[in-house]
Amino acid sequence: MDFYDVVKTRFSVRAYEDRPVEREKLDRILEAARLAPSAKNLQECCYVVVTDREKREQLISAAAGQRFVGQAPVVIVCCSTGDKDSLMRCGHSRYTIDSGIAIEHLALAAAAEGLGSCWIGSFYPDQVREILNIPEDIEVVELLPIGYPSPEAQSVRGRKDIEEIVCYDTWSL
Ligand SMILES: Cc1cc2nc3c(=O)[nH]c(=O)nc-3n(C[C@H](O)[C@H](O)[C@H](O)COP(=O)(O)O)c2cc1C
Repeated sequence: MDFYDVVKTRFSVRAYEDRPVEREKLDRILEAARLAPSAKNLQECCYVVVTDREKREQLISAAAGQRFVGQAPVVIVCCSTGDKDSLMRCGHSRYTIDSGIAIEHLALAAAAEGLGSCWIGSFYPDQVREILNIPEDIEVVELLPIGYPSPEAQSVRGRKDIEEIVCYDTWSL
């Protein structure tokens, strides 16, 4: 699929079929995250791939009751070994930006494979840590359920117009 078609195809899928994701697809999706850029090429993102049904069900309450998180056959728990207090010169946190890039690589790769995904930021990191034995010094950044979208999954995409978000050469928004 053409890159722009992938971008247009991706939407937040909140209903999944009870159908496993092929290992080859999962490997390619994870490879897309491995190739993501990172500040100073530190590559601090790491992933716990959860396919175990019982653990996925436990992740539902860790994700504040979002049932579709456990319904997806795969949940990629995106973590970082980075220092959460380390800021770049621009003042922004390195690990959150690095993680965001890698996670969107995962989401776009999933879309390219005909799969759906949904960023999950509404979750309790301590509960996720406990379920998956993730050490205290590892940041749990985001959850990404992945799977075949069920027919009831609907895109509700609404976006600002380009003129509202882009200006050229001088600030005029
Ligand atoms: C950082 C981040 C956190 C998000 N957390 C959640 C979440 O916890 N639950 C959820 O249903 N959607 C979540 N979303 C999905 C957004 O609601 C969604 O991306 C947005 O409404 C745009 O819709 P679209 O992804 O279908 O284009 C999150 C998205 C991002 C980028």
